[in-house]
Order: sequence, then structure tokens, then C-alpha cells
Amino acid sequence: AAARIEESKRLAASQAVQDHLLPTYTHIGIGSGSTVVYVVDAIASLPRSVTSQMAFYPTGDQSRDLIKAAGFRLGYIEDLPRGQMLDVCFDGADEVDPALNLIKGGGACLLQEKIVATAARKFVCVADFRKISKNLGTEWKQGIPVEVFPMAVPRVLDELKRLGSTGAKIRPGTPGKAGACVTDNGLRIVDAAFKPLLTQLPEGKKDGEEGVWTVDGLARRLIEIPGVAEHGLFYGKSGLEVESGAQKPVAAYF
Ligand code: A5P
Repeated sequence: AAARIEESKRLAASQAVQDHLLPTYTHIGIGSGSTVVYVVDAIASLPRSVTSQMAFYPTGDQSRDLIKAAGFRLGYIEDLPRGQMLDVCFDGADEVDPALNLIKGGGACLLQEKIVATAARKFVCVADFRKISKNLGTEWKQGIPVEVFPMAVPRVLDELKRLGSTGAKIRPGTPGKAGACVTDNGLRIVDAAFKPLLTQLPEGKKDGEEGVWTVDGLARRLIEIPGVAEHGLFYGKSGLEVESGAQKPVAAYF
């Protein structure tokens, strides 16, 4: 089964790169996680004459190392001129619904991932077949990753409970070591489970009633909690060409 999953990631990555990395592109976002390794492999198999014209923008320490190990030019998103966008960003996901809303952050990299994804004209998701889901929260059961300032963690846990979370907990650090998981930004991760998220509100229901949320409704509510730096719901508009601030991919490959 493990070999089948890896093969699924590899095939999805190579197809995504074939379809969405045009040789004329120069600024490329690279997400985090085990699937993105295959994306970088697929890009590395292209002619050097093509990839040497490109700069690659990481979403955390792991992807920075991947980019460097492949011998690619590293870009810094903070140095991208105002008004300029990345041509495309490739990233993985923990769960993908039919509307291409995503849960991300299983590897604790969501904040930088969202900054880079929304800086790209085109966001493409690469995942293996286990990630496909009708409603977010059914396949990925450990909860929505929420990146939180350390001092705010207890208050955030209280608020998540009030919002109907069926279980929210601080993500532990390395097994056998003391201390919680610390993100690349020095923050903590709270994993907040909710009832499966809907893509549309049922007639006559209010969002959040009895802890049942739409993806959009919960996403907007989570970011309002003081101390929440970002959450792992990628939702809303789809990342169409030239549209800024898009969090949803234009395409997902499995
Ligand atoms: C990193 O925090 C995540 O957003 C990853 O993109 C996501 O967890 C998918 O990771 P894998 O490709 O390792 O499953």
C-alpha cells in the first residue's frame, strides 16, 4: 500500500508539472510536505536551460532545503516587487473536497504556504488518492491545523470549543522530547476537529449552528480569533490567472 501511495504522489506531481509549469515561467512557488518532493523531482528532470531561468519560492524550511538541494535558484517572497506575482505555486494538501477547498498544515507549514499560494497567479494542488473527500474533516480526522501565537493558545482552545470543535489540542513536538510542535515561524499548532464541513449551507440553517459549519464560514470565523496567525483551510475563490489572493487551486492532481 505504501508503494502505491508513493507512486500516486509521483504520477500526480509529474502530470501537474507537465500541465502547469510553462517553460516561459520565471517565478515558481514550492509548497511543503512529502508530495512536493516529487514536484521538485519532476521539475529537476526538465532541461537546465529551462529551470536556470526560474526562481523558486519556498513555503518553509523543508521546501527551502529541497530547492537548494535540487540546485535551483532560491527566491524570497519578501523581495518580490510590489504588484508582481508568482507564475504558479505547486503544493500538497491533507484533504481536498469536490470544490477544491483544502485542509493543509499537517506538516505545520500553513502560514507561509498561504502567503506563497495567494501570491501566485495559479495555484496547483498535488496529492495522492487518499486525500480526496466529499466533505473536509472526514478523511483527515486529526483536525484543522491552526497556527497560534504561544501566549494565546489557552484562549484559542476555549474559543474553538465555543465554536463547536469536537476536540482541539496543541500539537505535540517530537515524540520522546519535551515541548510542543514549533512552526518555522516560532508559533504553535492547535489541531481543531469539527463535524464534516459543508460546501453549502442547508436551507434554513445558520452557519455554525450545532457546530455544523461551511468551509467558508468556519474559515472566516477562525481568522477572527485573536492570536490565530493562520489556519489550514484554503478556501473561497479559485486561483484563476491574474486574480490575487486566491487560496483555492485551479486544479488538483491525484
Ligand atoms: C504542510 O504543512 C502541509 O500543508 C502539506 O502540504 C500537507 O500536509 C501535505 O503533506 P504530504 O504531501 O506530506 O501529505
